[in-house]
Amino acid sequence: MRIDIVSIFPSFFDVLDISLLGRAREAGLIELGIHDLRDFTHDRHRKVDDTPFGGGAGMVMKPEPWGEALDSILDAAAASTAEASAAETPIIIFPSPAGEVFSQEMARELALKPALAFGCGRYEGIDQRVYEYAATRAEVRLVSLGDYVLNGGEVAVMAMIEAIGRLIPGVVGNPDSLVEESHEDGLLEYPSYTKPAEWRGREVPPVLTSGNHKAIALWRHEQQIERTRRVRPDLLPLHE
Ligand code: ADE
Repeated sequence: MRIDIVSIFPSFFDVLDISLLGRAREAGLIELGIHDLRDFTHDRHRKVDDTPFGGGAGMVMKPEPWGEALDSILDAAAASTAEASAAETPIIIFPSPAGEVFSQEMARELALKPALAFGCGRYEGIDQRVYEYAATRAEVRLVSLGDYVLNGGEVAVMAMIEAIGRLIPGVVGNPDSLVEESHEDGLLEYPSYTKPAEWRGREVPPVLTSGNHKAIALWRHEQQIERTRRVRPDLLPLHE
């Protein structure tokens, strides 16, 4: 998968060099392009924001650098394929508290795409015409991490890339480990234990050392239901 990111803090994404996603990049499973929005300005101050028309607090990101940044990513995507087909056009994702809420289901869907481009907004947002223009060239999605406000899109993009990246085939060594996780089956995951069987006076639930695989599977499912009912009752109607 090809992932492009536009941000005024490109070094924020240096952490993508390490860990699981770093290895996925080395293995050629993920190709990353990080772009500094200020490289698409043409004034001495590399200005990317201005005061809002109509007044109000804060600054709005100017459309011109965004237009050039998106053109550069989309033109490169078109040029990189012999016959520029819609299939290789990235889906453009703008993190925004005003977007649809990100979910495991969305991560699964996006992990199957050949290319994604993330546009990190700051301040009070990006000039609305940028979204409209982008939608004339590609599928555009505004995506929120949750019902709270971050200072900018960078942290949200990191979270989305981590959730999407680990679902790309080959990125996680043992794909079985992706199945038995919170949210994969609409429930929270069951509690896990490892050796020693007793630690600081606390014993591992006896069923787990019984060797009875059917009983273990049943116990784990019950734990999932109990935990989900206690912590996230909103998820349960999917199961009852
Ligand atoms: N930018 C600011 N707040 C955000 C949120 N909750 N989700 C995604 N992007 C954001």
